[in-house]
Amino acid sequence: MADADPISEPTVGFSMIPLVGVATGLVLLVSVVVSKLLFSAPRLSMPPTPKGVPLFGTMLKTRGPRTHRILIEIAKDFGPLYALKTGLKYFIVISSPQIAYEALIKEGQLYGTRPKLLSRLNFTGWRSVNSALYGPYWRGIRKNLVSQVLSASKVASFAPFREEELNILIERMASEARENDNVITLLPHCRFTVFSILLHVCFRKRFPEEDVKKLDAILKRLLQILAPQVIDFLPFIQAFSKKHRNECQHLLGRMRAIFQPQIDEHRELRRKGTPVGDYVDSLIVLQTEMGLVDTDILGLIGEVLTGGTDTTANLMEWTMGNLLTHPKIQTRLYEEIRSVTGGRTVTEADLEQMRYLQAVVKEALRKHPPLPLGITHGVTQRTKLRGYDIPEDALVLFHIQAMQNDPRVWKEPQLFNPDRFLNDDPNFDMTGSHGPQSLQFIPFGAGRRICPGMSLGLTHAHLILARLIQSYEFTKNDLTHTKQAQIKALEKLPWELLKITPASF
Ligand code: HEM
Repeated sequence: MADADPISEPTVGFSMIPLVGVATGLVLLVSVVVSKLLFSAPRLSMPPTPKGVPLFGTMLKTRGPRTHRILIEIAKDFGPLYALKTGLKYFIVISSPQIAYEALIKEGQLYGTRPKLLSRLNFTGWRSVNSALYGPYWRGIRKNLVSQVLSASKVASFAPFREEELNILIERMASEARENDNVITLLPHCRFTVFSILLHVCFRKRFPEEDVKKLDAILKRLLQILAPQVIDFLPFIQAFSKKHRNECQHLLGRMRAIFQPQIDEHRELRRKGTPVGDYVDSLIVLQTEMGLVDTDILGLIGEVLTGGTDTTANLMEWTMGNLLTHPKIQTRLYEEIRSVTGGRTVTEADLEQMRYLQAVVKEALRKHPPLPLGITHGVTQRTKLRGYDIPEDALVLFHIQAMQNDPRVWKEPQLFNPDRFLNDDPNFDMTGSHGPQSLQFIPFGAGRRICPGMSLGLTHAHLILARLIQSYEFTKNDLTHTKQAQIKALEKLPWELLKITPASF
């Protein structure tokens, strides 16, 4: 027996035998494990999935600013519920109100979470309202945001500050128009106004213009890098991940440099018994109640600023774009404003009576939802939808733009026609809470994760639009103005550059 034991043989030739044996054993073992994983793991019955390239799947084909349009094209071949293999994960794309209803409303809890994305973890962790996983932490910070900033009474309490900022907006536009032959770029003005209002909501103070611009640039970049990234689908590509983490931390550092002194000041005032009583103050209270750290506070402030600025500015941009191409709608709007106000400056109390104005904003939200794919949802556990498997790590997209422009649901959806919203159909109240049909119009999402800022966002949009139309007549810039304006025009979307003339009552 001793001779037969290869380990006891001193010769090189014989000592190879155990290595070959071990290697063969390992190969066998790996094959068995792999085949077990492959064949004994329950095979998923995925929704229809277009073919993609190995490893990347359809990632390369669907990336970029026109993703939502590409996804509509794919739905034409694969239907209203399909999957996209993207690296190691699946995107599930839903573009029918009925299926969205089954997921967001009937199975609201299951679909009420966010996917565990590395890109979000690299910033402040999954600690903001929009990135937090479904559970008590998310409930606590969302409840605080609503009660401190977004409830009807809080929204109303910021009215005087909004009025002040709106006056500044009209004056800034007038000043640019004076210097530039009546030609202005509207979007940066709107962004600046909304951003300043939201900063006030968080800190109850006005920041210097220089800081507002710096912060706006930081948050714009954050919006780009916090959307799902390659690292979320191919996490083993360490180089990308490190670069992404570094940029997130760099931007966080720049935010901290501006906000931390303010947070410290708020803390000091609370300690002295004179709390400011704004959003930041409420977050300081939550620090002890919910274990928030200062980085969480920065992330929570950042999401109010980004969530509320980009969406509203984008909405204004599309609304004005449509008013330029439909001057009759602009005139009708102007006449409604004049009949309600009788010539004095619009106030927030007037907005309630401006039904056409509300319909114009709704139509812009229908045709061009600022978040055409909403914010990516996750599922709390593996589940079935219409008989298909939805894996636990899937990213679920509700295609808001597809549902709101579906010719099977909407009459002539390609037309900009605010009249379609002049009836009091509850399906058009944008809450998605009136059965499957109401999910055809959900620019703020639906279900447990519905946008908590809907009322504030609409107040901003209605007020800005009313003041703009009351103050100026907007026409397309015909490019025959100053040289400077012509150069600007080449760099802008056609409706970003507008000609304004003071409206006279
Ligand atoms: C026109 C303006 C706005 C539009 C169109 C809009 C749209 C949306 C949409 C589509 C979602 C995703 C809902 C989902 O996951 O199903 C969302 C979420 C969210 N929005 Fe807005 N939004 C607007 C304004 C605001 C404002 C003003 C704020 C706050 C100041 C805000 C804060 C949030 C937050 C915190 C979430 C995440 C909610 C959660 O995950 O629980 N939004 N918004």
